[in-house]
Amino acid sequence: MINEEYKAMLGGKSVIRELSEYATARGKEIGYENVFDYSLGNPSVPAPADFTRTMVDLYEHGDPVAIHGYSPSLGIPSVKEAIADSLNRRFGTSYTGNHIFPTTGAAGALAHAMRAVTKPGDEIITFAPYFPEYQPYVNGTGAHLTAIPADTASFQINFEAFEEALNPNVQAVLINTPNNPSGAVYSEATLTRLASILTAKQQEYGHDIFLISDEPYREIVFDGNAQPYSANFYANTLTCYSWSKSLSLPGERIGYVAVNPAATDADLLVPMMGQISRGTGHNCPPSSIQLGVAKVLDETSDLSVYETNMNLLYDALTSIGFDVVRPGGTFYIFPKALEENATAFCLKAKEYDLILVPSESFGVPGYFRMAYCIDTEKVKRSIPALERFAREQYGL
Ligand SMILES: Cc1ncc(COP(=O)(O)O)c(C=O)c1O
Repeated sequence: MINEEYKAMLGGKSVIRELSEYATARGKEIGYENVFDYSLGNPSVPAPADFTRTMVDLYEHGDPVAIHGYSPSLGIPSVKEAIADSLNRRFGTSYTGNHIFPTTGAAGALAHAMRAVTKPGDEIITFAPYFPEYQPYVNGTGAHLTAIPADTASFQINFEAFEEALNPNVQAVLINTPNNPSGAVYSEATLTRLASILTAKQQEYGHDIFLISDEPYREIVFDGNAQPYSANFYANTLTCYSWSKSLSLPGERIGYVAVNPAATDADLLVPMMGQISRGTGHNCPPSSIQLGVAKVLDETSDLSVYETNMNLLYDALTSIGFDVVRPGGTFYIFPKALEENATAFCLKAKEYDLILVPSESFGVPGYFRMAYCIDTEKVKRSIPALERFAREQYGL
């Protein structure tokens, strides 16, 4: 018998994917250059040349049996050491290779981190707005996801609502900074306050509460700022990372979980994830890509286009009259829609070939997301369409 739960999910496919498919189909009709497709978070800049050269060199001169072979189930030791060293250099941490678990992207990292510190029936708290895939990720673990309403003034954390929601069943708190979809970069003050609440609650409840910090946009931060490193604020932190965005490698499916050495049972968590991967099927990420990224750990793609695009859009949106919090990073912006029903708003925008993602699936009503990982030239051409849309539909 087929599984009714997954069958039911067919009726609730990812809104983002559906919009992206619509944009592709519309592009076939009118030319993709005429579709202002702000739907999908797919990087628009190439991986750095050093990564390509490393891969070519590996393929030409490496041992083909090793390159294409299974990696050890806990990852390639030299790669894990290199990742730990890079993190220690950049963030003053004290990881060893044994604290690093290579995974298939951030999605694979989250699958392992969640399972390592929760069991079915437990509660995981996250903060709106949040990446819509968190719901299926958590469903797959058997835990329950609770979303704390957004702090729409800044898209930091709504601490009052968080403290009200905390209860002894909460075993993990899931954050994403820099944030998809708001572009907010959690500040030192936010991370300090979060850590102090969690520390107090651990004591009160008499059990650990793990912080799962999802950071695939860590390197995309604007105005010369940097994302404070969450694990430096709270011992029980599992950092989930991928090179999908920083090195523009989403299709290569490569990332890791870094277990803070100061966490409870830190030495057990990576071997446990090796056991978890036997069941998830997210096991042994490609050996060649593990070896490749290990050579370019301190590099990124040229990410500057995202800041250029953000500034163009932020200025245009605010001058049109949109209410929008300026993103501190990522390649997303999250303005308030011009009517309460964000889905209706985005449907109207489609008539202007503006593909915008309504906010309901991010856990916040009345907003929309634009993924501006597209050519700057197209961003510029989309501004008159945005102006016309706002004027004709909403009199702005
Ligand atoms: C917040 C967030 N977490 C996780 C992921 C999944 O990342 P990956 O493609 O590396 O699995 C994404 C992808 O867009 C994301 O935006």
